[in-house]
Amino acid sequence: MIRLDKYLADMGVGTRQEVKRCIRKGQVTVGGRTVNAPELKIDEEKDMVTVDGREIGYAAYEYYMLNKPAGVISATEDPRERTVIDLIRDKKRKDLFPVGRLDKDTEGLLLITNDGKLAHRLLSPRRHVDKTYYARVRGCVTEEDVRRFAGGLDIGTAEEEELTRPGILQILNAGEESEILLTIQEGKYHQVKRMFEAVGKEVVYLRRESMGTLMLDNNLKAGEYRPLTKEELEGVRGC
Ligand code: URA
Repeated sequence: MIRLDKYLADMGVGTRQEVKRCIRKGQVTVGGRTVNAPELKIDEEKDMVTVDGREIGYAAYEYYMLNKPAGVISATEDPRERTVIDLIRDKKRKDLFPVGRLDKDTEGLLLITNDGKLAHRLLSPRRHVDKTYYARVRGCVTEEDVRRFAGGLDIGTAEEEELTRPGILQILNAGEESEILLTIQEGKYHQVKRMFEAVGKEVVYLRRESMGTLMLDNNLKAGEYRPLTKEELEGVRGC
């Protein structure tokens, strides 16, 4: 049970003050009856709430799979830049955030939710959740690189070393520009780019393909999103 004004504010009808005003003006009904008390307790599972005749369903949690396009930042809001949250036009909740970060120029799988516990579990370094990236890399990626990635790499500075856990590198195509898949279990800053730098190569395109059991839906073009299916949600909850 939650207060009517919180219910409506959570669903993005307005700020707490704005929704209080519209309740007092008689614009809101609960179970078909006009109500005037913002503090009225609502059963968010059962009660039917309308504002100006429009039904407002309640969603405690939302989960979206976004194919992040390049040029958009992994943040909730920004005064200058477009954020991944700006791309989720159908959202009900205003407390959505991206689970982890992809660089501005990185594309691919990003989970968007307001479920803090799930995010914490997926991002916890102790859980070693696999993340797989597709990359195009300037330079010829070799079997020696595969061995070096498997042993963990120093991606630190000249002064201080910073070792990664082993990464599983798979060469799809080796040449002047190579194509690879890389699976890592961490999310250090610019990790994939820095791992290739450590072997003298440069990532020129990067896309995340999966996170735990969650795989990027090939039908989503860059910039598109959809809610997670029930099976996908159960899968990530088990990660
Ligand atoms: N590694 C990177 O270098 N960048 C990303 O966006 C994600 C992983």
